[in-house]
Amino acid sequence: MPTLVTGCRGRVGSALVPLLLRAGHSVRAASRAPERLSGPAAALPVGVPVVACDLGDPATFAAALAGVDSVFLYAEPSGIDAFLAAAEAAGVEHIVLLSSSSVLAPDAPDNPIAASHHAVEQALTASPLTTTLLRPGAFATNAHQWSHSVRERGSVDLPHPHSHSSPIDETDLAEAALAVLTEPRLRGGAYHLTGPESLTAAEQVGLLAAATGRPITVNAVSGEAWKESVAAFVPEPIADALLAYMAASEGAPAEVTDEVEKLTGHPARTFAAWAEEHADAFRP
Ligand SMILES: NC(=O)c1ccc[n+]([C@@H]2O[C@H](COP(=O)([O-])OP(=O)(O)OC[C@H]3O[C@@H](n4cnc5c(N)ncnc54)[C@H](OP(=O)(O)O)[C@@H]3O)[C@@H](O)[C@H]2O)c1
Repeated sequence: MPTLVTGCRGRVGSALVPLLLRAGHSVRAASRAPERLSGPAAALPVGVPVVACDLGDPATFAAALAGVDSVFLYAEPSGIDAFLAAAEAAGVEHIVLLSSSSVLAPDAPDNPIAASHHAVEQALTASPLTTTLLRPGAFATNAHQWSHSVRERGSVDLPHPHSHSSPIDETDLAEAALAVLTEPRLRGGAYHLTGPESLTAAEQVGLLAAATGRPITVNAVSGEAWKESVAAFVPEPIADALLAYMAASEGAPAEVTDEVEKLTGHPARTFAAWAEEHADAFRP
């Protein structure tokens, strides 16, 4: 029976589909915009069945879930109770949630970054379905937020250049999802997934400079200036929460776990390797 992969235009969902296919599993690829999953520009392999699924719109659930036995789920709280009821009715056995390590903070229910993941985790845990929680920290791919200014100006504006994270490669995350979806002994756990080392934001920029072979200047800017620069695409409460997170992790190394290796059988990929692989996005 197929696995329903939600959010297939997202970075993890789109990386997971080909891994499941290569491992011999059948897949149904879901998106809020399934028409964008087909055609030459689509990231998915040709021939994968696609279906509409908007996790905020229960009218899309029954058709997406009919005949599937497992689900890779993005954390959207607005329709989660209806989604779980529809999954149970369809005979789904196992749901793997792309959650966030932000749920581990004591203020998770009230924190704008953690709250949606916390709410979905609570709903899953209360349901009779077997659920597995993937709790990644910051994604390596977040570095793409700097690509425009690196390409255009050779510089990056950072409100907290010495704030730490342990960036995880999206391929490792997709491979971890593959493992928990396909290996029954790994089901039902909660996994805190990180990259292999704690790096400051400025150190990540340094690794991007090394990968591109061009210098990149780090400009320390005020929190207000940074908020203004991201206002078009980051809502204010989220920007405030991100700033608070960066301030708290300034000079404080981020936790590093070995959960990627436990799930995938290999050490987590480094940010330096991610930078090499994506260097072209940072070249003029
Ligand atoms: N970025 C990080 O550092 C980080 C760290 C920890 C956890 N996370 C979590 O990981 C998830 C992905 O984050 P990202 O930054 O990597 O985003 P992303 O790759 O841009 O993925 C976002 C995808 O989520 C899917 N989605 C959003 N709302 C949906 C809805 N109502 N119904 C169905 N699908 C929906 C969409 O898929 P379609 O467009 O195909 O519908 C969208 O493409 C988020 O939940 C995020 O909070 C991110």
